[in-house]
Amino acid sequence: MPSFARILPRRNANQRAALLGALIVLACALTHPGAARAEDQVNADALQRLVHQDCGSCHGLRLKGGLGPDLRREAIEHYEADILQMVILDGIEGTAMPPWRPLMSETEAAWIADYLLKGDYE
Ligand code: HEC
Repeated sequence: MPSFARILPRRNANQRAALLGALIVLACALTHPGAARAEDQVNADALQRLVHQDCGSCHGLRLKGGLGPDLRREAIEHYEADILQMVILDGIEGTAMPPWRPLMSETEAAWIADYLLKGDYE
């Protein structure tokens, strides 16, 4: 069995993290096909689960931070909702923050941005 290190030789940490992000998004796409496909409708329950499970896999289940930074209201309230929406849709290049555009509509990303800014889940 070849090890990961052999398949992925000499990558720097950012590349590895970005690859991890791509793999997580792919895994999410495979395991939650219905989570966020609808173009204009928003399934709030599915999106809420996605935030805590899929975003939470990097940002912490309670969004307090992990591989990715703290996403609780106090940590992100200086951002405009549309900036957060863009970050969610397009990711942050060169980091592990993956683009979610393949997995969700703009409306859904806007819903998540509002959800994070409200911080009503605790
Ligand atoms: C594979 C890991 C990973 C996943 C999954 C992930 N993120 Fe991130 N995210 C990161 C990392 C790492 C950063 C910090 C990037 C940097 O260095 O600027 C980040 C940054 C962010 C930021 C900017 C925060 C700030 O203070 O600058 C937001 C907002 C964000 N992520 C939201 C989300 C949301 C919402 C989801 C789920 C839809 C998600 N992320 C899923 C790794 C991830």
